[in-house]
Amino acid sequence: MKSQRFHWICLVIVTLSVLLWYVHMTRSDGSTSMVNMGLQGYLSITPDRMEQFLKMHCRQCALVSSSGQMQGAGLGEEIDQMGCVIRMNNAPTLGYERDVGSRTSLRVVSHTSVPLLIKNESYYFRHSADTTYVFWGPERNMRQDGKGRVFNALMKMATKYPQVKMYMVTREKIQYCDSVFQNETGKNRMNSGAFLSTGFFTMILAMDMCDSIHVYGMIDDNYCSRANHSVAPYHYYEGSRMDECRMYRMHEHARRGGHRFITEKAIYARWASHHRVEFKHPTWNLQERKHDP
Ligand SMILES: *[C@@H]1O[C@H](CO)[C@@H](O)[C@H](O)[C@H]1NC(C)=O
Ligand SMILES: *[C@@H]1O[C@H](CO)[C@@H](O)[C@H](O)[C@H]1NC(C)=O
Ligand SMILES: *[C@@H]1O[C@H](CO)[C@@H](O)[C@H](O)[C@H]1NC(C)=O
Repeated sequence: MKSQRFHWICLVIVTLSVLLWYVHMTRSDGSTSMVNMGLQGYLSITPDRMEQFLKMHCRQCALVSSSGQMQGAGLGEEIDQMGCVIRMNNAPTLGYERDVGSRTSLRVVSHTSVPLLIKNESYYFRHSADTTYVFWGPERNMRQDGKGRVFNALMKMATKYPQVKMYMVTREKIQYCDSVFQNETGKNRMNSGAFLSTGFFTMILAMDMCDSIHVYGMIDDNYCSRANHSVAPYHYYEGSRMDECRMYRMHEHARRGGHRFITEKAIYARWASHHRVEFKHPTWNLQERKHDP
């Protein structure tokens, strides 16, 4: 009787060990960590080390692209009427209100654009204190053990401007975004020499927090190959050293370190079939695509 119970206990221990090992193995293999954690993927940057996740929900969001397509768009009034207005990196509103609007509820910023914000900290963190910031970057820049150069700079800002709501995309959420890219393209993001763009992280965040999304100024994946496309600068707020389509093509074919802007647009078009996403200025014809193979 006693020995039988002992056997049972052994069996339970062995089973549990195998189970734990299995969970551990599947967790550390990036390809199986496809669990979307919603807004738990955005952690606050605060000096008091309290773990807080982003809490933001909007019925209707305007996602305003930084594209040169916004030049002369005259959509400022329409954009400002949306529940939340989302912008990217250092895209300014001052002086461009008529085209892109003046409100910024949320700004998604890449690690490479952080120095641009800090250079103008009084504008971004003092005058725009009601904007929520979400920063994304690779582990080497965003690690929180004192060795993350960009994280350290952001922590300094968070300490200096405690009223500003600052968040970072967690390592797990970044891995999730990589796995979404792999799932959608069949290609490993890193092995194929691609970097996800700020637009990609912004679309994922918008789908996490908005019931419906109006995207302004994004071109579709076929736009640049159409014969009659208009020529627009890469960004609405910068002189056009290189136009948008040339920049997109250069990145799409870069062997290493390119943003696959065109591939990403094809992915958004698929998302639009099961999320409430509408593309305006230029308008995307998603109806036609449904009949494509
Ligand atoms: C800061 O940004 C604002 C808005 O884009 C701009 O008008 C201003 O000139 C910038 N200031 C500096 C010092 O770059
Ligand atoms: C992977 O792709 C399929 C087909 O497009 C989609 O239904 C599924 O939601 C995707 N999963 C993730 C985690 O992206
Ligand atoms: C460009 O051509 C397409 C079809 O060839 C047409 O649907 C579209 O309206 C044209 N766009 C412009 C700006 O002329």
